[in-house]
Amino acid sequence: MLRIVTCGADHHSIIRPILQSIGWDEHYIVAFETLPAQFARQPDRMSGYVGFREGEPVGFVFVEHHLWNGLSQIQGLAVHAAYQRQGIAAELVHKAEQFAISCQARGIYVDTPVTNTGGRRFYEAIGYQLGYIMPRYYENALDGVTYQKFFDA
Ligand SMILES: CC(C)(COP(=O)(O)OP(=O)(O)OC[C@H]1O[C@@H](n2cnc3c(N)ncnc32)[C@H](O)[C@@H]1OP(=O)(O)O)[C@@H](O)C(=O)NCCC(=O)NCCS
Repeated sequence: MLRIVTCGADHHSIIRPILQSIGWDEHYIVAFETLPAQFARQPDRMSGYVGFREGEPVGFVFVEHHLWNGLSQIQGLAVHAAYQRQGIAAELVHKAEQFAISCQARGIYVDTPVTNTGGRRFYEAIGYQLGYIMPRYYENALDGVTYQKFFDA
C-alpha cells in the first residue's frame, strides 16, 4: 500500500536517494533538494507530496498554482527506480490534481525534456495532452515539451 503525506521542509533528505536511483545529474539533484522548503513556504498555492511504501520514501511530486492564469504546474515528479510501474506516479499526480482543483485551477500542466520518453508515455497514459514544444528550454540542444490537462475536458 502507498501512504502519501504532504511534503514538509523536513522531507528534504528523501529527494537525493530517489533521484540518484534514476540517474539524474548532480545539478538537478541539488536544485530539487531545495523544493521541500520552498513549497512548504506558501501552502495556499504550493504543495508537495511524498509517497511511502513500508516506511520507505519511494516518490514525490510538487505542484504550484499560478493565480495569474488559473493553471497549476507540476514542478517535479519522480519515482524510485525500484518502485516504478506500480502506479505510484499516477497516485502522486492524482494528489497534485486534487490540490490544483482545491485552488480552483482550470487545469494543470507539466514541462519535461522531449527526450524523456518514459515520462511522456506516462503523462499520455494518464490523459494529458501534448501542448507545445519549447525550443532550447532545458539546454541549447535540449527542447522541452509541455503536457496539459484541463479539468473541464
Ligand atoms: C515517469 C515516472 C514518474 C513514472 O512513474 P511510475 O510510478 O513508474 O508510473 P506509473 O506506474 O504510475 O505508470 C502509469 C502508466 O504510465 C505509463 N508509463 C509509466 N512509465 C512508463 C514508461 N517508462 N514507458 C512507457 N509507459 C510508461 C504506463 O501506461 C503505466 O501503466 P502500466 O504500468 O500499467 O503500463 C517514472 O518513470 C520516473 O520517475 N521517471 C523519471 C523522472 C520523470 O521522468 N518524471 C516525469 C517528468 S517531470
